[in-house]
Amino acid sequence: MSALPLHQGLAIVMVGLPARGKTYIARKLCRYLSWLGHRAKVFNVGNYRRQRYGDHVPPSFFDPNNEEAWRQRRAVAGAALDDLIQWCEEGGQIGIYDATNSTRERRAYVRGRCEAAGLRVLFIETVCDDPAVIDVNIRETKLSAPDYRDTDPDEATRDFRERLRHYERAYEPLSDDTQSFIKVIDVGRQVVANRIVGHLAGRIVNYVMHLHPTPRPIWLTRHGESEANTRGLIGGDSPLSAAGEQYANSLRTFIADQDVETLHVWSSTLQRTMQTAETLGRGFMAIKALDEIASGVCDNMSYDAIRETMPREFAARQRDKLRYRYPRGESYEDVIRRLDPLLIEVERHREPLLIIAHQAVLRCLYAYLADEPRERCPFLPVPLHTVIELTPRAYGCDELRTELAPGSRAAPSS
Ligand code: SIN
Repeated sequence: MSALPLHQGLAIVMVGLPARGKTYIARKLCRYLSWLGHRAKVFNVGNYRRQRYGDHVPPSFFDPNNEEAWRQRRAVAGAALDDLIQWCEEGGQIGIYDATNSTRERRAYVRGRCEAAGLRVLFIETVCDDPAVIDVNIRETKLSAPDYRDTDPDEATRDFRERLRHYERAYEPLSDDTQSFIKVIDVGRQVVANRIVGHLAGRIVNYVMHLHPTPRPIWLTRHGESEANTRGLIGGDSPLSAAGEQYANSLRTFIADQDVETLHVWSSTLQRTMQTAETLGRGFMAIKALDEIASGVCDNMSYDAIRETMPREFAARQRDKLRYRYPRGESYEDVIRRLDPLLIEVERHREPLLIIAHQAVLRCLYAYLADEPRERCPFLPVPLHTVIELTPRAYGCDELRTELAPGSRAAPSS
């Protein structure tokens, strides 16, 4: 699989006490960078520790004065770092080292190893002293971790807090401003960026500063059936068919039935999505970046006509649908690139959002939100007259699909 070129490999080194959202940021960042086309991978030291010493170790394992455990922790942290470096040497581009890296001495060691291997180093520290936020993090991520499987939640919380106290005794915040770092304080209330060099690091700052874990539904739907759909033509800018208008009415009922105070509605700038959005009877924003993949010289043609009149183009698209670019049009990769700034807006929003767009565009957005590999983008099922509800969670995303028969009320499908 080819990846976007990167002049020099990058090691993103997480820093922070447990339950401060390091793994959340590490995983989301990995998903975002992979979606953009980079080869990125997370190396989580907790997983190495669980593999080597079992799912549960006692809190004393994290006591900085426990020499035997200290050696064992160093060994698993070293194994994860060795794997990260080796993976980059074998063609990986961005290795994300997800560990506490809680002392200056430790960070100097990690930085030295990465730089010796030719990797640039970017530290991301998550800082939070708000007990309410830490409590939510413990409940939502730690209690469901393999460490506490089958453990009573109160007992698990006590155990984890003891572990935390050991870390707190040894923790040294990031303060060396000779290095490149991002400090995310109180879940993005304040973000400090130091010595950020290059386009990619800039994009990472922009992405990380807009992340927040507030659960909110994001509804994705295609426009109602268009006249071009009824004739099997791709692209174009035709209005809704009669069935498409009925779908828009069903969508209005569906949205009215949802228990939401505020809803943001986005459509593309093409007739069929704007007409669908207008039917909802509330304000909406028409956004050019949501327009369907541009099919260039094939616009308004059927797939059969393309196969007959442009067999080489047809075959090239069959061979590599992700990278194939219609002559004077776009590829799926182009669509992902143009959606990048909009995706940051999606992340930034804290309120429910309804996006009315097109098959290719929604496939790309869905791939990011549902953590599907980007290679699958062109094949993800996004049928007409179906609402896909996605609710991002700390480490994943809940999904509900509702097929709306034109003119009827909701009939949940899965
Ligand atoms: C862990 O063992 O869960 C994390 C180790 C660390 O990074 O401190």
